[in-house]
Amino acid sequence: MAVETPLKGNIGDSIKRKEDDRFIRGKGNYLDDVVLPGMLHMSINRSPFAHARIRSINTAAAQAVPGVVAVVTGELLAQHKLAWMPTLSGDTQAVLATDKVRFQGQEVACVIANDPYVARDAAALIEVDYDVLTAVVTPQQALQAGAPLIRDEKEGQKDNHIYHWEAGDKAKTDEAFAKADRVVKLDTFYPRCHPSPLETCGIVADVNPATGHATLYMTSQAPHAHRTLFAIVAGLPEQNIRIISPDIGGGFGNKVPIYPGYVVATAASLLIGKPVKWVEDRSENLISTGFARDFHMSGELALRNDGRMLGLRVKMLSDNGAFYSDAQPTKFKAGLFHIVTGSYDLQAAHVETDGAYTNKAPGGVAYRCSFRVTEASYLIERLVESAALEMNMDPTEIRLKNFIQPEQFPYMSATGFEYDSGDYPRAMQVALDKLGYQELRKEQAEKRKKGELMGIGVASFTEVVGAGPGKHYDIAGLRMFDSAELRVHPTGKAILKLGVKSQGQGHETTFAQIVTEELGIPAADIEVQEGDTDNTPYGLGTYASRSTPVGGAATAMVSRKLRDKAKKIAAHLLEASEADIEFDHGKFFVRGSPSKSKTIQDVAFAAYTNLPDGLEAGLEGVTYYDPPNMTFPFGTYLVVVDIDRGTGQVKVRRMVAVDDCGVRINPMVVEGQIHGGLTEGFGIAFMELITFDEEGNCIGSNFTDYLLPTSWETPKFETGETVTPSPHHPIGAKGVGESATVGSPAAYVNAVIDAVGHLGIRNIDMPVTSDKVWAALNEKGAAE
Ligand code: CDP
Repeated sequence: MAVETPLKGNIGDSIKRKEDDRFIRGKGNYLDDVVLPGMLHMSINRSPFAHARIRSINTAAAQAVPGVVAVVTGELLAQHKLAWMPTLSGDTQAVLATDKVRFQGQEVACVIANDPYVARDAAALIEVDYDVLTAVVTPQQALQAGAPLIRDEKEGQKDNHIYHWEAGDKAKTDEAFAKADRVVKLDTFYPRCHPSPLETCGIVADVNPATGHATLYMTSQAPHAHRTLFAIVAGLPEQNIRIISPDIGGGFGNKVPIYPGYVVATAASLLIGKPVKWVEDRSENLISTGFARDFHMSGELALRNDGRMLGLRVKMLSDNGAFYSDAQPTKFKAGLFHIVTGSYDLQAAHVETDGAYTNKAPGGVAYRCSFRVTEASYLIERLVESAALEMNMDPTEIRLKNFIQPEQFPYMSATGFEYDSGDYPRAMQVALDKLGYQELRKEQAEKRKKGELMGIGVASFTEVVGAGPGKHYDIAGLRMFDSAELRVHPTGKAILKLGVKSQGQGHETTFAQIVTEELGIPAADIEVQEGDTDNTPYGLGTYASRSTPVGGAATAMVSRKLRDKAKKIAAHLLEASEADIEFDHGKFFVRGSPSKSKTIQDVAFAAYTNLPDGLEAGLEGVTYYDPPNMTFPFGTYLVVVDIDRGTGQVKVRRMVAVDDCGVRINPMVVEGQIHGGLTEGFGIAFMELITFDEEGNCIGSNFTDYLLPTSWETPKFETGETVTPSPHHPIGAKGVGESATVGSPAAYVNAVIDAVGHLGIRNIDMPVTSDKVWAALNEKGAAE
């Protein structure tokens, strides 16, 4: 009988996630688990109106409630120059409203009390006298002449326009369109949706009046960057601020921005001299924290009659809400939306984007997305589907004809990205074989003859993840590098400290595996620490799938740094020249005599006990890694749907997802990431919608109205892989965390359109609900 050798945790080993041990026992330590002696609680009074001038605020009744310690208003904050704060996109945002409220749910005043329920009850007693103004709820309405001015406090702001930004070559694109045999156009809307992490946002601010030290426990995806921004906004000395991100129950971009609640709780703790806790409830999270998407997009594809794409023209109008707070690199006004040429060898492209203020909560977080890549991927994949439909081509054929070919990498896109590596035809082939595509097309033709609606959706996405390089990408001026510090103790056990911060992605397991591969220390002997700014090296944090491309690379590089030093020590122990020392899986040996060897554990012990003359003691190091380029994961997703003509109900019968994220560190963790992303993509495509009525009331501020998919609704996922390593990443890995959320919505919607396209239906905007499908069928006389 074969004896199974336990996996050591090398790259490629699907070892179990270390962190799950505490999570499944209910022993995680989340923000709300933090309880400090003398801690007070904060509750926020929010605006019921989307747009209203504040005439007065009366806090007397709230102040009088027994247990209330303080009531904080914008006026009080203004005395400390804290009524407004900068946003991540260089705009300003009200911390507590002083002049006007600009979206429903905006923060107006806060109550600090000795009990969370007292704080909440008292917050409801704050009387605000509002003069209600006309609300602006769409960007089109916002840009009309004479629209109410939302940001009237901004000097020089005459209208609701925020930015205009372009990428690509307009003249070259116009030329391509002039030469085209035909142009295919698609207008589509990627609606506002919400990351909805299971754990909402919160803070426990603990400012020690004696020392001036501020310890801030925060649900932060980017604790180091937040520390610096806090220092700048609040004028606190940075060495006195310690941010601790405990375990986080999902972030998905929602925990990247700095929210007013964080600022007020910190200011209150500073003024009162006691710890202050603020934790949002579900509706507060859904109504006021970072939304995603809300892009109105119009794409035109210039084509030859044989299906070859010649040029792409895109216009996009984004709804940014009342404050432009998108979390994105400062040079890019619409994030990385200009990756919109996708997987195709498009020689000419031009992208024009505009943003508008509306009376909605500020949006623009990269919800499981690398700064608007999701919207871009959706548009191009939907547009290619439209082209296939109009030209009567198979959607796989048109893609195969236009894919960037494997030998074209590194490939410079028409909008300025250098794609690192890829093999798009292979990923598609693996997906087609897995699905049994040709057979299903035959079945579809048979069904169509009988009047039954069946569709096969295709999406072949390319992503751009892993920001920096720092010279092109920064957040609020901070270059987007990342870091890893590795300490190998005398007994050969190690601690790895990172600048990134997991919110459930399994970093404690996978980052240890990189050290295992590079140094040979078993993953079980490596403790991974993240999220405490006093005890981890500076980094920009975890979002936009950047942890593996940047923090993972830093981990490999610091391990190699230590390996170089370890070689010197091994040479000393083996009485050989350093040049003759070789390393293989945790063993150092003299070239040609593998039996004469020392383990990494022997060497670690010697680093503290038996060193060659002139060498510093210890086996520790730190690396700050600025990547030379982004990584470009890709994949092909295929979806099969059946549609009921009587109800418009769409049933997803099959979902095949083939992903290529380069070298997989832990295939099981990658698989988990893909399942999660496909579920979120399914929710966005079919269920989730935050919408607003004409007065700007937010509809969808609870989980009864905002429908998240459960295992009941979600289809079974069939996954596959190809591996095309990133040539510039030290271990060949690309990011993967968000690939499935980026790639899948278009595949789901394309499947629906594939089922009904022959009836003349070209588009149904997400979420593709039964009523919308039925209405579209009915319009074409095809509903039952
Ligand atoms: O930045 P974030 O952690 O959200 O995304 P990521 O870097 O794509 O990683 C998500 C999880 O998948 C982490 O635990 C990674 O280490 C793991 N992963 C992997 O095992 N192999 C890859 N090629 C990419 C990610």
